Amino acid sequence: MRELSLNVLDIVQNSITAKATLIKIELIEDINNDILKINIFDNGKGMTDEQIKSVTDPFYTTRTTRKTGLGIPLFKMAAEMSGGSFKIESIVGVGTKIFTSYIHSSIDRMPVGNINETVSMLIQMNPDIDFVYTHTFNEKSYSLDTRELREQLEDVPLDTPDVIEWINDYLKENDSIITV
Ligand SMILES: Nc1ncnc2c1ncn2[C@@H]1O[C@H](COP(=O)(O)OP(=O)(O)O)[C@@H](O)[C@H]1O
Ligand SMILES: [Mg+2]
Repeated sequence: MRELSLNVLDIVQNSITAKATLIKIELIEDINNDILKINIFDNGKGMTDEQIKSVTDPFYTTRTTRKTGLGIPLFKMAAEMSGGSFKIESIVGVGTKIFTSYIHSSIDRMPVGNINETVSMLIQMNPDIDFVYTHTFNEKSYSLDTRELREQLEDVPLDTPDVIEWINDYLKENDSIITV
């Protein structure tokens, strides 16, 4: 079965292509209200309203028909399939925000998958981009902010094996703290 973390990888790839320098990923597990949310924000080149329309509907065509992929339609479908919702807000020259929500307990909700691995891989593959990953579980939350990490590391690059290992441990430890 497909996993939402793979959709996240796809969507963040769009942000990278759009020349984002800061990408925020939020995973919100509101078990008490049976809601799961995954939001992705970037400061890339943004989209016009017309573009937003054409990317959310794979069958939408304009006179200047161009090839569009399925990254966004698939993410939208995953959310709506579970009884949740999907929204894009974008401003040209400012950035893009993608909001998805899911009914947590729905049998049609895809599993989140290994999002820590996704985050870690994204940092490793794009050491010059800043990422902020926030995981919320009910009322508890933590963040990994590569801008703060960079300050601590001075000139050590983020894709250094020891740094990646530290990131993996940080995510794992904090997950175990917030999910109790
Ligand atoms: N974060 C983003 N910033 C700017 N443009 C975007 C963003 N995400 C998607 N787009 C635009 O929407 C198009 C469709 O995205 P997607 O559905 O993932 O398919 P693909 O990436 O294969 O083209 C992209 O080609 C791009 O033009
Ligand atoms: Mg894409």
